[in-house]
Amino acid sequence: MSNVNPVKGTHDVIGFEADAYAYIEHVFSQVAYSFGYDRIVTPIFEHTEVFDRATGESSDVVRKEMYTFLDKGDRSLTLRPEGTAGVMRSIVTNKLYVTPDLPLKLFYSGTMYRYERPQLGRFREFRQIGVECVGEDNPYIDAETIALAMRILQSLGFQGLKVKVNTLGDKASREAYKKALREYFAPRIDDMCEDCHQRLVLNPMRILDCKVPQDQEMAKSAPRMGEFLSEESKQRFKKTLSLLDDLDIDYEIDDGLVRGLDYYGEVVFEIHCLSHLGKDYGAICGGGHYEGLLSTFGGPSDIDVGVGFAMGVERIYSLMLDFDLLYDVRRDADLILMPMGEDALREAFALSDALRSLGYTVEAPYRQGKLGPLFKRAERKRAKYAIIFGEEELKQHVYQVKDLKEETQETVSVTDLPSYLEGHLVDEGEDEGE
Ligand code: HAM
Repeated sequence: MSNVNPVKGTHDVIGFEADAYAYIEHVFSQVAYSFGYDRIVTPIFEHTEVFDRATGESSDVVRKEMYTFLDKGDRSLTLRPEGTAGVMRSIVTNKLYVTPDLPLKLFYSGTMYRYERPQLGRFREFRQIGVECVGEDNPYIDAETIALAMRILQSLGFQGLKVKVNTLGDKASREAYKKALREYFAPRIDDMCEDCHQRLVLNPMRILDCKVPQDQEMAKSAPRMGEFLSEESKQRFKKTLSLLDDLDIDYEIDDGLVRGLDYYGEVVFEIHCLSHLGKDYGAICGGGHYEGLLSTFGGPSDIDVGVGFAMGVERIYSLMLDFDLLYDVRRDADLILMPMGEDALREAFALSDALRSLGYTVEAPYRQGKLGPLFKRAERKRAKYAIIFGEEELKQHVYQVKDLKEETQETVSVTDLPSYLEGHLVDEGEDEGE
């Protein structure tokens, strides 16, 4: 049977929602520019190996969630489940690291693909906005990256957000911690979920992130990362936190935060926000510090560090909708033309073009009709002024201009119309343009 429905976990983005996504991406890019970032666009699909190597073979994303297929040349390709791996591959392919201006600061936006169980805030095709700052190992950069995430969300109108932070320590600390976790969970694993059986072998830290209530209970008394941190990692984390204090960033240490991708080490963070309607769309931002990704692709090992994050655009959109933060996205019409009669309709055709060339948003009918439905349309389009004219107005070279909010009407001559509109609409237009 043929199936022409949208694929499960995907959705069409239409009208206001599409405008809102573009708005979110625009605000994001403006803030990223102000932090010295450049845009990068990488392909939506890569050789599967790119994600196997970078995103990590022990992550759920790589093990279970990738859209992988053979192309007609029998190459194994994968739709990107996240942006970091492709950006790292691109830095190496294009030798972007050959620059006196390290760290490289790159931002991206685009669709990602994960074969997950669709639910509130979770899709199979979704959009991320993200950044990667690569090539210098420095707590200032870690803290600045967290500040950038908070600034983006603040610029979108979010208030009172708290970032959850944790440190996964350096490699040696993590190995010691994983060993302790294996020892702790091994005698308990029979009572835990199938996924945790695999996690125990591949990366026991991921068990701490398991969503099964019984496993969460078990994880409560597991050893904590803090006990296994090297002195250097402890000091580094302390420094990062004190830098966040310098910027008045509200954070909370969550020592159970491990993140779902394999490449992280040292500081990791997530931002969550419950909508005031009580809805939890999941984390809106996740990121952290990583090492060793460039060399996986044959890049240099001496500058092989980075820090970055990505945010889910759909989740941000849903929250902004709930918090009523999308007022800048509404496209109100400036004017609606209401021609009465065939000659007026013809006049309206040219007039709408002339008014649009002056920068106004203009609604106009394509066939003759009654005033009633046009006023209803004016309401739907939230038009500010109606320009009404029929045979009589054409004869006298005037229009009736009605202020739809104030419900007042004036007769304006054809030649005076541009200056009349400028006087009445320009101030509002300038406010909107900011
Ligand atoms: P992630 O935590 O897997 O990190 O994803 C980042 C964000 O993408 C999440 O916090 C969430 O807002 C959104 N997201 C993830 N999966 C879905 C989904 N199925 N549906 C809707 N939204 C989703 C990364 O992807 C890393 N690459 C982030 C990073 C960059 N770390 C360092 N650099």
